[in-house]
Amino acid sequence: MSAFPVLQNHLLFLRPRLHLSFIPFSPRLRRRLFFSAASVQCSSSSPSSSSTASRDDIDEVAEPPGVPPPPGSGRETQQLIDVNPPRGTRDFPPEDMRLRNWLFQQFREVSRILSFEEVDFPVLESEALFIRKAGEEITQQLYNFEDKGGRRVVLRPEITPSLARLVIKQGKSVSLPLKWFTIGQCWRYERMTRGRRREHYQWNMDIIGVSRVRAEAELVNAIVLLFERLGITSSDVGIRVSSRKVLQAVLQMYAIPERLFAEVCVIVDKLGKITKEEVEKELMSAGVTSEAVKGIVEVLSLTSLDKLEAVLGSDVEAIADLKKLFSLAEHYGYSQWITFDASVVRGLAYYTGIVFEAFDREGKLRAICGGGRYDQLLSTFGSDDIPACGFGFGDAVIVELLKEKGLLPDLGRQVDDIVFPLDEELEGQASMVASALRRKGHSVDLVEDKRLKWVFKHAERVNASRLILVGNSEWQRGMVRVKVLSTREEYETKIDELN
Ligand code: HAM
Repeated sequence: MSAFPVLQNHLLFLRPRLHLSFIPFSPRLRRRLFFSAASVQCSSSSPSSSSTASRDDIDEVAEPPGVPPPPGSGRETQQLIDVNPPRGTRDFPPEDMRLRNWLFQQFREVSRILSFEEVDFPVLESEALFIRKAGEEITQQLYNFEDKGGRRVVLRPEITPSLARLVIKQGKSVSLPLKWFTIGQCWRYERMTRGRRREHYQWNMDIIGVSRVRAEAELVNAIVLLFERLGITSSDVGIRVSSRKVLQAVLQMYAIPERLFAEVCVIVDKLGKITKEEVEKELMSAGVTSEAVKGIVEVLSLTSLDKLEAVLGSDVEAIADLKKLFSLAEHYGYSQWITFDASVVRGLAYYTGIVFEAFDREGKLRAICGGGRYDQLLSTFGSDDIPACGFGFGDAVIVELLKEKGLLPDLGRQVDDIVFPLDEELEGQASMVASALRRKGHSVDLVEDKRLKWVFKHAERVNASRLILVGNSEWQRGMVRVKVLSTREEYETKIDELN
């Protein structure tokens, strides 16, 4: 950051975006300012911080240097800060927070039903945990920087490496298998599309220490259960399944060295995002022969296990694993949700076996969730390997889908009681009533300094169950007036009998 001291100072003086249209700056200068700002924000070692930025982002540039008012001049107050959160991030006002809590509650409930334990990790992690060489997009989208102690750190883009770190740290003190879930915020300096943001929350479920396909079957069970709880059916959403071992078998057929495996997977995952020709070109420059490239592209177009078997032969592990999963799916009763699709490879380098992704059948949105088996991640951190698999399920795409299907729940605010003193001198008595009800566990909104008409409207707005009016004549008799809002019933009750 010290490379940009001047710009950094001026970043503190952001003004509303509206002003930008009046700035007589050439597009080139505005672009330059943006890229400088982006590199300040996103730190140096990530070359992508500028390459992922597009011209659409230019409106995010800080206002160019003007002369900030001198401190103490009294004019600082004229500088209204930008009230928007940083691009790609969200505020959660109460109604959005209610929705988020409701969704997380569904995540937690499914995890409980599947008998998983909750874990948590810091959002800030050591950069080394995320340095991988296979050219994954995620490693080029890091929010990375140096902390005040000179350590390279990142805002985590995903949770799996942290989980692997904790598994290694706990070592032999824990008995396997582990079934862990977590819900946490992840950060990726990503080009935004519908449901893709620069921060998102991810629900992760991972099983550590199970090499059998049972683990994948349990994870898919969890995903399907969640969809069912949300009212989503198998005609809205499908889960595409394949195995990285398919590609491994193809590479073996063409004697392509094992060390190219992860890189090939990452390149192949770009099919559909960039042209087939570009993918082929990247594969060849990674060292894959043109014959093998042809073989890979052909196999990836298969959507039938029988055809795959015809190409690879029946004694390939990929076929056995996939058949096992499809057979277990029948028993679990979710086979209508899953389909084999060899083009599912996933963009993360560490997957080694079965991989899966949920998608909306109308094809309007990006992947809803994704995961797979990663049996060799631990050894990349210098530990012994333990078989593992899991998935990540974001909060943004699913909300888009629920909106699309009209399945968003109606989550009004809910308050049990509103307590209102009809007289200012009764504020002490109203406090006593509110406090007694709160001790009993009621949610109580204590309102004062308002007109009665406002209080009634407010009670409706917050979905209160009762209105408790503390009035002088009632109080003299040891009573309060209660109004039940759903039935409009009204009565007096003794203060100590208020329940
Ligand atoms: P991933 O496919 O990169 O996998 O992300 C998992 C899910 O997180 C996506 O399917 C999507 O729902 C959500 N997601 C990812 N990036 C964004 C974004 N920029 N904005 C909104 N939502 C997003 C992983 O992260 C793996 N670590 C998952 C895993 C866990 N594999 C094994 N265990």
